[in-house]
Amino acid sequence: MTNEFLYVIMVGLPARGKSTLTGKLSESLRRDGISTGIFNNGDLRRRLSKENTSYPEFFNPKNKAAAALRERYAIMNLNHAKAFIERGRRRKKVAIIDAANVSAKRRRMLLSALPEDRVLFIECINNDEEIIEANIRYKVDTPEFANITKKAAIAGFKKRISYYEGIYRPLHREQSFIKVDTFNYRILSQKVNGGMPFLDRIRDFLVTPFIKNLYLIRHAETFFNLRDRIGGNSRLTPDGLAQARGLARHFANRKIPLIFTSALQRTIQTSKAIKEAQQDCRILPFPEFNEINGGVCEGMSYMEIRETMPEVAESRKRNKYYYVYPGGEGYVSMEERIERGIKKVLYLSKYSDNIMIVGHRAVNRMILSYFVYKRREDVPYIYIPQDRYYHIRISQNKKVFELKKFG
Ligand code: F6P
Repeated sequence: MTNEFLYVIMVGLPARGKSTLTGKLSESLRRDGISTGIFNNGDLRRRLSKENTSYPEFFNPKNKAAAALRERYAIMNLNHAKAFIERGRRRKKVAIIDAANVSAKRRRMLLSALPEDRVLFIECINNDEEIIEANIRYKVDTPEFANITKKAAIAGFKKRISYYEGIYRPLHREQSFIKVDTFNYRILSQKVNGGMPFLDRIRDFLVTPFIKNLYLIRHAETFFNLRDRIGGNSRLTPDGLAQARGLARHFANRKIPLIFTSALQRTIQTSKAIKEAQQDCRILPFPEFNEINGGVCEGMSYMEIRETMPEVAESRKRNKYYYVYPGGEGYVSMEERIERGIKKVLYLSKYSDNIMIVGHRAVNRMILSYFVYKRREDVPYIYIPQDRYYHIRISQNKKVFELKKFG
């Protein structure tokens, strides 16, 4: 076995997806037999400092004492990473230094202690306001902010970000770097030298969503389903509620911290049952996952549509993917919002091995087809039953889609 090693140094403002990416990257590398360590400045600071260091002024560059303390933690963290790499150098190893590292000065300090040809900087960029806001809300739910109000924690975190913005110098002079759009899984620019170990693997990882377990569920039976009516905002039937309880039992032993739903009651009601069987679980409704809008046909049954608007039924049959309901949507016009919903889910599902989405028939077809290639014209015919769910697992090495029973 060759002795290959690499330091990956993360760069980016808070809430830009660095830690999520770090966690997933390390997991992906480990699966390939590459020993990978994560060295997170913040974790070290929280572990070692006795006083509370989460207040915004701790991050003010003008606060000399705090800046010196943060520098000390950065050096300590770097030394831990070096010790990890140097310990028995007979293996493939990657040390990921996870911290903001936004100032050129900080990066010079890190580089001066490391062999430059073995350092790859990865700068995480995401300027989507809604996502950053959601991410901040998520972060302030952690124990670090337990002793202040949520409002104060959010304001404080934003202040902390503004201090980092003041000293932020994007990567430019460094020898090897990749800038990545963490929301869209895109490499925005790169300056990399050949010969760097694991480079192709890491680049491929950056553009591939890595999903340990995604449970894609359709809401349980509703009163509209009984009568074959489309759209609307119907509630679950007694059988539907029993189905939802079946789902809850099925997932009770798996940790589901977040359930993503549409903004419609049938998905939320289904999820509430699942949530009840969990210790710590939140439901996040996204309008992006609302069912296809049937426009003038909303609330009608397929038979009523055939009888009263035969031209609608005929045109849809001829070209289901591209057909747009008058005053409503078609599969084609859902593309953008569904893709955005999926990206939000992936971005916010940090620290969790299990992601759950409770959606609708057309929505779940679109979600599935995002992950597995399908000809567009075949998408509206994907089987989305209510007594089963899709279990999706995606890594660089394999894509698995299983239709599973519950209850
Ligand atoms: O019938 C349930 C439902 O979710 C409707 O609300 C929606 O219009 C329909 O399924 C989508 O399926 P299809 O595109 O096959 O009509």
